[in-house]
Amino acid sequence: MSHTLAAAPETLLAAPDQASQAEIVDEIRARHAELDALEAAGERVAATAHDFPAYRSSVLRHPTKNPRLVDPETIELFSPAFGQRDVAAIESDLTLQHAGEPLGERMSVQGRLLDSWGRPIANQLIEIWQANSAGRYIHQRDQHPAPLDPNFTGAGRAVTNANGEYRFTTIKPGPYPWKNHRNAWRPAHIHFSVFGSSFTQRLVTQMYFPGDPLFALDPIYNSIHRQKDRDALVGVYDHDLTSPEWATGYRFDIVVDGPDATYFEPEDE
Ligand SMILES: [Fe+2]
Repeated sequence: MSHTLAAAPETLLAAPDQASQAEIVDEIRARHAELDALEAAGERVAATAHDFPAYRSSVLRHPTKNPRLVDPETIELFSPAFGQRDVAAIESDLTLQHAGEPLGERMSVQGRLLDSWGRPIANQLIEIWQANSAGRYIHQRDQHPAPLDPNFTGAGRAVTNANGEYRFTTIKPGPYPWKNHRNAWRPAHIHFSVFGSSFTQRLVTQMYFPGDPLFALDPIYNSIHRQKDRDALVGVYDHDLTSPEWATGYRFDIVVDGPDATYFEPEDE
């Protein structure tokens, strides 16, 4: 069978000075080795490399000045607080937002929001956004030649219950190209925004899928230098969370503080 591929739009064509994938992988390995050596020498190395040169724009994506101090109690008086009544149950099902059903692997993503002592964080808003099964976002800046799905927007929200549990129904997102280097592809992922025990603790992270062949190639995933921290970002396939003849199931627990914490992106990302 033969088929014709549409030419990539001009905006997606790599600039001639972009690094190759092999060069990016070498940069990732070299930086990990440097960080491992620093750690072995007894230096304290943050789990989160805010400047990770293989991720080209990372040097522009974090504050360069000390944070402005505010009185958290004052902020909490004015900040929004979400409860079970503010979010409809249907908002957690991304497959029901249009007249038809989206294409792709239907799945449920479930987990618990926990603090570093393993205590559930109840009544907190969890928001997700993601590409469709073809790896395309509904976003002006995403113009790569994969189809939009008229039955999929890719955004949902839920509020954790008394046990800190949340559940989404969605479809598995596809990997997509980006312009960090020549022929760069992001591993499939779902973006998560969570709140800790208060609104001022908004944190943003990504959930990945087990065994993705793009892990070793992706400078965003690898800006977290310890393997155990990267592993915490990978959802776990859990057959007990599947629904017969309906959906596969993944578990993704999120810890918001302490040594078991999930890696979070700098706030301006
Ligand atoms: Fe993304």
